[in-house]
Amino acid sequence: TWSTVPAGPPDPILGVTEAFKADKDPRKINLGVGAYRDDKGKPYVLNCVKKAEEILTTSNPDKEYLPIAGLPEFTKNAAKLAYGADSAPFASNSVAVVQSISGTGALRIGGAFLARFYPHSKTIYLPTPSWGNHTPIFRDSGLEVKNYRYFDKKTVGLDFTGLKEDLKNVPEKSIVLLHACAHNPTGVDPTPEQWKEISDIFKEKQLFPFFDMAYQGFASGDTTRDAFAVRYFVEQGHQIALSQSFAKNMGLYGERVGAFSLVTESPEEKARVESQLKIVIRPMYSNPPLHGARIANTILSDSALYGEWEKEVKGMADRIISMREKLYNMLSGDLKTPGEWSHIKSQIGMFSFTGLQPAQTKALAEKAHIYMTADGRISMAGLNGGNIEYFAESVNKAVRG
Ligand code: LMR
Repeated sequence: TWSTVPAGPPDPILGVTEAFKADKDPRKINLGVGAYRDDKGKPYVLNCVKKAEEILTTSNPDKEYLPIAGLPEFTKNAAKLAYGADSAPFASNSVAVVQSISGTGALRIGGAFLARFYPHSKTIYLPTPSWGNHTPIFRDSGLEVKNYRYFDKKTVGLDFTGLKEDLKNVPEKSIVLLHACAHNPTGVDPTPEQWKEISDIFKEKQLFPFFDMAYQGFASGDTTRDAFAVRYFVEQGHQIALSQSFAKNMGLYGERVGAFSLVTESPEEKARVESQLKIVIRPMYSNPPLHGARIANTILSDSALYGEWEKEVKGMADRIISMREKLYNMLSGDLKTPGEWSHIKSQIGMFSFTGLQPAQTKALAEKAHIYMTADGRISMAGLNGGNIEYFAESVNKAVRG
């Protein structure tokens, strides 16, 4: 029956973990998937998460189905975290929000909803480059995927001129995906001033902004600061779509906790939109998982745990920033590795887009047992006091050929 099914390629990101696991060398390092590691290279369960789980165990909760739209207290608190308590649409009960299977699930619900109901366009524009899963998610949702310029290889920074030119040239009312903060894979974000200009173009062209916010708190260590673009757009009157993930900022990767929301005109419109979001969700997976949403909600609704969470997010962000400093100092200082490496320090969030070429990333895997995605993106969180020197020396060798 399946003789005509061709073998598919490994996933460009998660496939790297498979290759890493198969490698038996003790020096091996996985810098592929964006998952936080502590300074010993171990997965990190946040203390606030452990405490939330204790509280949950003590309360002996049931295992009933959640409603199709998820845990109501959680979705409300998730929207509050993103939009801010004083956001006009949030305060007036006009944000339609549903729980999702983390960020991917939120994007997929959003893609499917827009494909079904957005009246003006069936095309979504993604930055070049974007997270590897964005294109298949939106294509499988029924949207056509096109691109706009984002990254300038020469300056290893934002191609702001190209971005503006492209957004001015897309058809009016097109859907445009924006990374809210800590752009994946480049680590290059617009400045607040640039976000304001981008918002003006969205107004001029009546573009529809779809924000992917997978790293709130992880970029700067401050959840409010990282929500700047989302909140600014909403203040400016844009009716945005928003995908949220709690994988990175609460370390809830495998619990699959996220939310999808849409800003609407009124509570009445919100209710209609939510009713249709439920109709999108029900045949996909019926209703979302319970445990992770309870954990996130316990943290978001308890002021002591919330305070502890904010400190822990900042701790993770700061450790990554310190690894950026160290790596930069090693490459450009002692090793004098050919090339310009200051982008390692200036890039934001979990990743550094190193500029390493496919042949070099291949050599690093084969000779040094160091794994990263083929585009030269490294997850900074995979570096630590114990392996950073070996990593810098291996990069130095790969660059020198
Ligand atoms: C990544 O880009 O590494 C993360 O967002 C994890 C994933 O699912 O790809």
